[in-house]
Amino acid sequence: MKKKIVSIMLAAVLAVGAGGCTGGGSGYSSDSSKEAAEETAEEKEEGVSSEIELSEAAQNHAIDGEEIVGISMPAEHLPRWNQDGNYLKDNFEAAGYTVDIKWADNKIDTQQQDIHDLVNDGVDILLIAAVKGTELTDVLEEAKAAEIPVIAYDRIIDSDSVEYYVSFDNDMVGQLEGEHIRDSLDLDKENDEIYHMEIVSGDSNDKNADGYYYGAMNVLQPYLDSGKLEVVSGETGYQETETFQWSTELANERMTNIITSYYSDGTPLDAVLCANDTAAIGVADAIRDSYTGKNQVLLTGQDGDVDNLKNIMDGRQTMTVYKCLPHETQAMYDVTVAFMNGEEIDESLIKKAGWDFDVVYADDRYSNGTEYMKSFLLTPLAITKDNLVEELVDKGFYDMNDDGTFTVKETVVKK
Ligand code: BGC
Repeated sequence: MKKKIVSIMLAAVLAVGAGGCTGGGSGYSSDSSKEAAEETAEEKEEGVSSEIELSEAAQNHAIDGEEIVGISMPAEHLPRWNQDGNYLKDNFEAAGYTVDIKWADNKIDTQQQDIHDLVNDGVDILLIAAVKGTELTDVLEEAKAAEIPVIAYDRIIDSDSVEYYVSFDNDMVGQLEGEHIRDSLDLDKENDEIYHMEIVSGDSNDKNADGYYYGAMNVLQPYLDSGKLEVVSGETGYQETETFQWSTELANERMTNIITSYYSDGTPLDAVLCANDTAAIGVADAIRDSYTGKNQVLLTGQDGDVDNLKNIMDGRQTMTVYKCLPHETQAMYDVTVAFMNGEEIDESLIKKAGWDFDVVYADDRYSNGTEYMKSFLLTPLAITKDNLVEELVDKGFYDMNDDGTFTVKETVVKK
């Protein structure tokens, strides 16, 4: 049997077997992983060289006659990632592939261990939606050693093991949010009105959040510069407006503080540029509970989470950016299968796949930290109260229930 041991300098040493995984060292990590990260830093300083030792299954994955798709998802309990993971799993299984899927409970060290396990389970390809895309570089050295290709799903990953990326156009998501505020406030109209806006950005651990912030600011910055738009709290920067883990509670806390500190004297709050729907729930509640103005506050988001759709119908949120997960997972499925079939992965796939939704191919937009990834970027859609039913209910993505709530429809596109 071929024995393959790859000697490599590892910044993080992965514990093999039951002991769990070291490494990480970020905001999401547990105390034990923090200690491990400190140890790792010491090892790094001492220049400890470690070996990547691959299991037999990992060494033989390509010749064992079974095609296994390995999927690593951020968390099963978060609706967004639960749908992504299950749509992917169903699509591959319906087409006869074996799927090995792991959920990371939104923890970096759990995801590192998951990927380590998937490699050693002998998967043939790895599809990863990262908890934190900058923390997988080391564990992906194992995938590289086992010659397992990796495709990044939705979130960018920093690793030269990742050549392909399937996502929505992140900058366009932000752009649509910015345009909603620009157009609703009619900022191009010449008058003396000054409008007040606050900004709630995403989690800067997630590189997608950069795209959302800068995509929106490209639209809104000219009005901030001219004074037509004013951020009364003065908090306009990406980092100072960020929401760790896209948390509803943290967004609620920050917005409550801002409203009570800057808007309790009757200053109108006209708009909140909010990066996504989980944070927008917190902002909507802060407005309901603490804002005394009578105007409708513009509030953006993204994803089309069911509670936010209800808020849009009730006038508590004014737009979301819908990113159709059945389409995103379909694109991921087709790119993966084309890759496994040895086809050329480039712009020509868009036609060959016959997608009935818009996808743009780019090889000069999103980088894996070393080089641009070959990216398939789906087009997001702005949803307001005016087009919600037509675009999301009539087109079969959600059911609207008698009590005004929404349910995601089982719309997995089976092969
Ligand atoms: C996704 C968004 C999501 C956010 C929080 C981002 O990477 O692209 O759709 O709202 O993570 O889960």
